[in-house]
Amino acid sequence: MTRKVSDALGNDWLNLKDRVCVVTGAAGGIGREICRQLLACGARVAMLDRDEALLLGTVRALEAEGGEVRGIVADVTELASLQAAADQVQGHWGECQLLVNNAAALYADAIMDIALDKWNQLLSVNLTGYLLSAQVFGRQMVSQGRGSMVHIASISASIPQPFSGAYSVSKAGAKMLSQLLAVELGAHGVRSNVVSPAMIRTPMSEVIYQDPSVLRRREEMVPVGRISTPVDIAQAVLFLASDRAGYISGQEILVDGALTQSWLGLIPRPGFEKQDAGRA
Ligand SMILES: NC(=O)c1ccc[n+]([C@@H]2O[C@H](COP(=O)([O-])OP(=O)(O)OC[C@H]3O[C@@H](n4cnc5c(N)ncnc54)[C@H](O)[C@@H]3O)[C@@H](O)[C@H]2O)c1
Repeated sequence: MTRKVSDALGNDWLNLKDRVCVVTGAAGGIGREICRQLLACGARVAMLDRDEALLLGTVRALEAEGGEVRGIVADVTELASLQAAADQVQGHWGECQLLVNNAAALYADAIMDIALDKWNQLLSVNLTGYLLSAQVFGRQMVSQGRGSMVHIASISASIPQPFSGAYSVSKAGAKMLSQLLAVELGAHGVRSNVVSPAMIRTPMSEVIYQDPSVLRRREEMVPVGRISTPVDIAQAVLFLASDRAGYISGQEILVDGALTQSWLGLIPRPGFEKQDAGRA
């Protein structure tokens, strides 16, 4: 018997209703969209960010769309701040069931020139912040024998992003952290995965897109022909968060429009130039 697609892919396909979720860096471009989509699925969402004004404005906007959402001002570099946030979540909704590690920073710097305090500062947010959040919220998952973590890394976790200080190193570390968590927490019913964006327009990267010629040149480099949006990233996060990905752990999904697969096509190769696809 042929099963109808609509039976398998109903509206509640992800089954995230009432799931207790924590998203760090939730007031930023990607974090906000992840929260918006989780709320649309009926999840309970704690939005953590250190930027109080931005966070409160974002929470108000999402509240207006409906759903159970709480804003908690928290700095992921400070264990006490994260523990206070975890206690609040537990007191209000119960143990965290999904952690999205997303809060991060990016500064320009050459590896040979970067000052030690800037190196340490970036790693304390992008890497140690991911560890501390995983420990604090992971303990709540272990105590109930189930949970999922999704860590936002970057294609620069695997491919060097030059003149960006400790950024690539921090993202490579986050990827290995996720793999370690997958192995060490698997027996406790906790999965851990990575979503790696490539070129995406958010407040973190907006300055790059102010020049229309840069935007056009960037678009031309991506096989799917466009720069990604926070919606693209959030959809991958929700899938990995859900029980539909119940046997997927220790993995990375690259949401990059095939950018990382395209570089061989950039090498001049006479006789093998681009043809019009599908030409009769
Ligand atoms: N934008 C891109 O081009 C791009 C590309 C690849 C990967 N990423 C990754 O995606 C994630 C989200 O990036 P975005 O583009 O939405 O950035 P964004 O700058 O819009 O948002 C980041 C948020 O994190 C918060 N934050 C920073 N430090 C914090 C701390 N110590 N404690 C708590 N909150 C803190 C900021 O206040 C901000 O709201 C990051 O992990 C980033 O590295 C972004």
